[in-house]
Amino acid sequence: MAIGKKHKEAAALSSSSSPLLPADRKALLLLLLLLIVLLARPAASSDGVRYDYRAYTECKSHPEPALYNGGILRWANKVTDFRTEDDGNYSPAFVLYNMSAATVYSFSCWVKIDRPTTAHVKAKILTLANAASQCLGTALVRNDCWSFLKGGFTLNSASETSVLYFQFAIYSLQTASPNASTISIRSASLQPFSPEQWNQHREDRIQLNRKRFVNVHVADSNGSRVVGAKVAVHQITRDFPFGSAISRTILGNKLYQEWFNKRFNAAVFENELKWYATEPYPGKEDYTVADQLLQFVQANDAVARGHNIFWEDPKYTPAWVKNLTGSQLRAAVSGRIESLLSRYKGDFVHWDVSNEMLHFDFYENRLGGNATVDFFDTAKRADPLATLFLNDFNVVEVCDDLSSSADSYVSRLRQLADGGVTFEGIGLEGHFGKPNIPYVRAVLDKLGTLRLPIWLTEIDISSSFDPKTQAAYLEEVLREGFAHPSVDGIMLWTAMDTNASCYQMCLTNQNFTNLPAGDVVDKLLGEWQTKETLGTTNDRGSFNFSAFLGEYKLSVTYLNLTAEGTFSLAHSDDTKHINIRLSPSR
Ligand SMILES: *[C@@H]1O[C@H](CO)[C@@H](O)[C@H](O)[C@H]1NC(C)=O
Ligand SMILES: *[C@@H]1O[C@H](CO)[C@@H](O)[C@H](O)[C@H]1NC(C)=O
Ligand SMILES: *[C@@H]1O[C@H](CO)[C@@H](O)[C@H](O)[C@H]1NC(C)=O
Ligand SMILES: *[C@@H]1O[C@H](CO)[C@@H](O)[C@H](O)[C@H]1NC(C)=O
Ligand SMILES: *[C@@H]1O[C@H](CO)[C@@H](O)[C@H](O)[C@H]1NC(C)=O
Ligand SMILES: *[C@@H]1O[C@H](CO)[C@@H](O)[C@H](O)[C@H]1NC(C)=O
Ligand SMILES: *[C@@H]1O[C@H](CO)[C@@H](O)[C@H](O)[C@H]1NC(C)=O
Ligand SMILES: *[C@@H]1O[C@H](CO)[C@@H](O)[C@H](O)[C@H]1NC(C)=O
Ligand SMILES: *[C@@H]1O[C@H](CO)[C@@H](O)[C@H](O)[C@H]1NC(C)=O
Repeated sequence: MAIGKKHKEAAALSSSSSPLLPADRKALLLLLLLLIVLLARPAASSDGVRYDYRAYTECKSHPEPALYNGGILRWANKVTDFRTEDDGNYSPAFVLYNMSAATVYSFSCWVKIDRPTTAHVKAKILTLANAASQCLGTALVRNDCWSFLKGGFTLNSASETSVLYFQFAIYSLQTASPNASTISIRSASLQPFSPEQWNQHREDRIQLNRKRFVNVHVADSNGSRVVGAKVAVHQITRDFPFGSAISRTILGNKLYQEWFNKRFNAAVFENELKWYATEPYPGKEDYTVADQLLQFVQANDAVARGHNIFWEDPKYTPAWVKNLTGSQLRAAVSGRIESLLSRYKGDFVHWDVSNEMLHFDFYENRLGGNATVDFFDTAKRADPLATLFLNDFNVVEVCDDLSSSADSYVSRLRQLADGGVTFEGIGLEGHFGKPNIPYVRAVLDKLGTLRLPIWLTEIDISSSFDPKTQAAYLEEVLREGFAHPSVDGIMLWTAMDTNASCYQMCLTNQNFTNLPAGDVVDKLLGEWQTKETLGTTNDRGSFNFSAFLGEYKLSVTYLNLTAEGTFSLAHSDDTKHINIRLSPSR
């Protein structure tokens, strides 16, 4: 039935084919010829299906069972073997009907290849009507064990017929591998979620990871529980670090300082700590601006990320450093770490040790493969209390950048660990275009398997979108980040800059009237804070409520009896029980 129709479409495409056919159209043709056609049943109602946060980063001798029992691919998975012998670029594949633009699709499967020994495999979704395809997930796959691929997508418009397929990531029509290979898929799963369900997962996770229940028990001076006592709760600080990049622009700008302090409990300096800023000429160190920024942050009781010790991108390496080789360069890098970290010992909560090392390798290139290991070693000795991070872009932002796929990141981290590095934190920059939210969640799931702190370190949305669209995308990214159990902090990039020339996105104009992105931030800050809570003890003398992690002030009154106190809610707490003893007010 439907298959006949598809062949017709294939024929139509074929007649218009030319050597200049766009790659995806050609791909489509090949696909339709080679495809194992598997009809996925349209999405059944999936009310109340919880998101499955499981992910795997180790290669396994046997694939695990499919998540969601296969979701809408359940039926297709009854075919147990998907092996197809061809050039390995387009099979196997799943044909999917009547996919909706409103639906959030989460995909996962186990993958193995015949050859080479390791390669990135991409999963893509192709919309037949307009031959548009998008990457939905990647995995670094091996030939001797099964690797887990997890990703997801939403469609720009509803699609009557779509094809979910796989290809070697290096594949292009021009350089197609002449060697036959096989991509084998097991335990494939495609689970649709409505936007409401997706939001519900976030709410559930926020309750689990960012909030706790509090039960206040009120008693009189004799220890008898008091019914009808009035309890008032006020949140003083937030546990979750949420902040923004700042630059020298904030120095001396009282209005900006107030605007910043009202909102944020964390900061990072845009450029002021970078080597080119602190030592523009050899031996001419100048920490004046960095010191002033740090003083501003500390006066606000905020935390600061140290960004960065080294930046692997040669473009941002000081010109004089680029001139150095061998022992001169070695001396210069040791000098840099020691000077920076002894000056600021204990002052920064994190150090980005090797910035963007998944994409660039200035130092390893010049100093050998152990350079990064040495950087971490030296940094750890210089500031033992700081958490040492790697930090890179295009990990959660895009699916197609293989240097920084989740698996590339994990494999680099493991390589460093083998070299003796104790890496302690994963930095994800987050310079987004249009975010693929289910993909972001899948990548966080995968990186989360390492059980290290993950920070979104430089969140913004491309200035190619108008401010309203930027704000809408920002909201999605921030909601996803705050709700994800593996994310420990979020930094924006940036708030305001001279002449409103922020890197991609400002939150406010120079008069401190919020731009749309700033309104989103304020809305979320409001949501992620416990509202002023007023309550009355019940017939057991207790009052319970749910509250965000952080520190609180509490006051209780009953007739002429009162009590005041503070408490803090931390990750490690279960429900927090607080016993309050009233005494006569003075
Ligand atoms: C897709 O939707 C169309 C129109 O509603 C319907 O005729 C068709 O049967 C659906 N296809 C499948 C596979 O459910
Ligand atoms: C194809 O296989 C041969 C022999 O194993 C190998 O030398 C060659 O590099 C392979 N070509 C590609 C593009 O992988
Ligand atoms: C506490 O106990 C004493 C002695 O039993 C009693 O006189 C007093 O009224 C009690 N106070 C309150 C607040 O119940
Ligand atoms: C780099 O070295 C060259 C040759 O010694 C010298 O002319 C140049 O000024 C140096 N550049 C910097 C930035 O130190
Ligand atoms: C790194 O250090 C180890 C141990 O000191 C040494 O065996 C290895 O050759 C070094 N690797 C590189 C690439 O320099
Ligand atoms: C801001 O704009 C003014 C007027 O266009 C210009 O004179 C000034 O140099 C700009 N400042 C910066 C930091 O770009
Ligand atoms: C800021 O306020 C000044 C004075 O009220 C006004 O002239 C200027 O246009 C405002 N700038 C922006 C970006 O709103
Ligand atoms: C918690 O509060 C709710 C409503 O405010 C109440 O129904 C419930 O009984 C309370 N639970 C306990 C254990 O006091
Ligand atoms: C509190 O109120 C009770 C009766 O309501 C009264 O007996 C008592 O003296 C008052 N105590 C103080 C310290 O005002």
